[in-house]
Amino acid sequence: TRVFLMPWNAPFTCMGSSPVTCQPERLRLLSDLVIRVFHFYPELTKKKFHDSNNRHLMGDGLVLLTESTMKFFQNLMLRSIGKGGDQNTWIEDGLFMYSYNIVFRAGYLSVFGNVSLREAGSTEKSFEMDRIQSDAMFTEFHKFDQYFPKLVYGVQSPRERIEIRKLMRMFWKTLSSQVVKNKGNASNWVREQLQTSEGLGMKEFMQDRCLFLMLWASQGNTGPAAFWLLMYLMKNPEAMAAVRREVDRVVMESGQEVRRGGPIINLTYDMIQKSLILDSALEETLRLTVAPVLSRAVMENMNLKMSDGRAYQIRQGDIISLFPYTAIQIDSKIHPDPLSFKYDRFLNPDGSKKTDFYKNGKKLRYYTMPWGAGVSMCPGRFFAMNELKQFVFFMILYFDFELKTPNEEVPDIDVKRWGFGAMQPTRDVGFRYRLRF
Ligand code: HEM
Repeated sequence: TRVFLMPWNAPFTCMGSSPVTCQPERLRLLSDLVIRVFHFYPELTKKKFHDSNNRHLMGDGLVLLTESTMKFFQNLMLRSIGKGGDQNTWIEDGLFMYSYNIVFRAGYLSVFGNVSLREAGSTEKSFEMDRIQSDAMFTEFHKFDQYFPKLVYGVQSPRERIEIRKLMRMFWKTLSSQVVKNKGNASNWVREQLQTSEGLGMKEFMQDRCLFLMLWASQGNTGPAAFWLLMYLMKNPEAMAAVRREVDRVVMESGQEVRRGGPIINLTYDMIQKSLILDSALEETLRLTVAPVLSRAVMENMNLKMSDGRAYQIRQGDIISLFPYTAIQIDSKIHPDPLSFKYDRFLNPDGSKKTDFYKNGKKLRYYTMPWGAGVSMCPGRFFAMNELKQFVFFMILYFDFELKTPNEEVPDIDVKRWGFGAMQPTRDVGFRYRLRF
């Protein structure tokens, strides 16, 4: 039985003493999707994978990964533009496709490795090859991503089934364990996962599938989130101005300056930690546009008490699914005027990060949950935040950008993707950008 609950203070495992779930059953649940959609059987690696996530996506590993991603943002956003032609020409694009493309490619290159200097022969050539290869990768990934809801629900047509299979084979081949090992410069996160899988005797074809799963987990949400963040900033001039002031201040304090012909800003890890206004705008964006369903298996018969006094008899073997989006994120008792974007919602009046949120007078431990919670809470959350901030920093520092139609509305969320994480819009939005210097 699957029980859907929408409790804003639901006591599941991450909240302390509740016996609602534990690791082995959670494993079985997750495995269903991973096996059915990605044809990957994760049992062997799960525990070690968890340790590796913590080592390489947090702490010192996070600093390395973030700084390597910065170099790819520089290459993708700044090195290919304005060369030879008129530096001030406006370029028109769809905001969703532009944001998804750039953020996917920067993340992909830093996580899975890029063309080495040895292979390319020169730095310029390796930059160029990275741009071309990552763009081709994004095109195929985006095709797969569009099929994803149908794949999860198992409602593809026979033709779509063939297409999807073809795409997956392509990924297993072009992003195979051999290819990644040969590159030699993949992130430690990927390298350790491959070593672990090999050490445990996992067959090579299964390692290839694991890599595609890692690509999907690491790159499927951040690009769409980047779109919403820029969209909300463009629709809210006050928010954009506040973020712009903060970005300029951080760069000035670092002793650097953006100028025509000057070196590209070295956007360090420390610099992006100093942007609390941008943090709040990002948190607010995720509150409005990230909507995962979190499923947990019940380990023993129990009486599950809700904060509002209701109680449910839950049996061992039941599955509880939480949908924090409606339960927390857009609950007007927690977040007044919940459907409006307020860039400073997560800031205290003194400018520090706001963490005190209440419902019916009771302080909440969870007031927004875009990353899930508990044992399987997204381990890539800090990296994702950093990537999103790097993208916004470079957009603001180096580009003029505006909506093609100034009174364009923020598009609706595509409901087909409820439950999958970062939502996507029902349509793209035209915008234009040009180099400022
Ligand atoms: C805006 C971007 C992202 C969002 C909204 C997001 C959201 C999520 C959510 C909701 C979960 C499931 C949590 C649960 O069941 O409790 C998850 C799991 C996961 N995410 Fe993310 N994620 C993002 C970016 C990333 C990135 C950049 C990486 C890696 C570099 C990553 C790696 C993972 C992994 C490996 C898991 C599975 C964890 C496990 O089952 O133990 N994610 N993510």
